[in-house]
Amino acid sequence: MNSGRDSRKLEWTNEMDKRPRRLIKVFKMDIKKLGIIGVGAMGSTMVRVIVNRGIIKPENINAHDINLERLEMVKEELGINIDCSSNAELVASSDTILMAVKPQELKHVLEGMAPALDPSKAIITIVTGVPMSFYWQVTGKQFPISRVMPNTPALVHAGVSCVSFNELVSVTQKRDCITILKAIGTTHEVPEKYLDAVTGLSGSGPAYVYYILEGLTDGGVKMGLPRDLSRSLATDTIIGSLKLMKETGKHPMLLKDQVTSPGGTTIDALHVLENENLKGILIKAVEVASLKSRHLSNQFKDPE
Ligand SMILES: NC(=O)c1ccc[n+]([C@@H]2O[C@H](COP(=O)([O-])OP(=O)(O)OC[C@H]3O[C@@H](n4cnc5c(N)ncnc54)[C@H](OP(=O)(O)O)[C@@H]3O)[C@@H](O)[C@H]2O)c1
Repeated sequence: MNSGRDSRKLEWTNEMDKRPRRLIKVFKMDIKKLGIIGVGAMGSTMVRVIVNRGIIKPENINAHDINLERLEMVKEELGINIDCSSNAELVASSDTILMAVKPQELKHVLEGMAPALDPSKAIITIVTGVPMSFYWQVTGKQFPISRVMPNTPALVHAGVSCVSFNELVSVTQKRDCITILKAIGTTHEVPEKYLDAVTGLSGSGPAYVYYILEGLTDGGVKMGLPRDLSRSLATDTIIGSLKLMKETGKHPMLLKDQVTSPGGTTIDALHVLENENLKGILIKAVEVASLKSRHLSNQFKDPE
């Protein structure tokens, strides 16, 4: 049992979802038994959403995690089963397996699952940066794989994810996977070759937004605003601006022009952003994060 948690990790708290636990909608799902391997930050968020939205009944969900304390907490909260004593046992008793372990644990986990895997078992994996080919290479078996790249706002059902399916994923398996992903935010089906760029943009993106937020907050502080007020103004400006863009469907440059009066304050600020190449820096940031993701993925191309 490992109870030492990384304090930097995002954890779900009761503050994040005050919605009552009840069935919101009846979903038509082909998944009969869902197994979850790894109920850390992301795995527990996904199982919480699946149960709380009534997508799959808790009695039809099994979870396994080497962190027994965490497993007990999820069982206590959601009423799912945690009786499987190994990942192989969990795979044997499930038709769909959601994998939510760290990439460095994956090879070991797959080796343990391998004896119970066959083409009837559908894998949905949110493990970052590991190509689908790795799963078949390590296990020596072929089975349907849905590879997902979510992001942290999934914790409050405001995530965006991209998903790639291999050739063995059936139409109903795709539909079931997309139903689950829509419960944690919006989702897009993409070819697997896009997933490194997706990681560099939406996967790492929340960190860029918080960094920009911090810059705006410091700007307000520099000009004499109390920090709390400044952060609140910066936060609500970002949230409100994006809401306006989403709800009007207008192009961001058109909305920018609406704020920018001739000879006014905004154009002076935009001139600085242009001169300092903020846009070029953001492009470069997405590029380096995507290339790093590609580099890390390449390390999984040859499991030996
Ligand atoms: N968090 C995010 O924002 C985010 C976003 C996109 C994608 N992802 C991906 O999602 C995956 C999960 O991330 P996370 O943040 O949820 O990680 P996490 O909090 O560390 O959760 C992983 C869980 O798996 C457990 N585990 C380790 N080895 C295991 C094994 N052999 N069998 C069963 N369980 C095992 C871990 O236990 P211990 O803690 O005891 O090791 C932990 O409880 C990662 O691949 C990550 O890259 C995460």
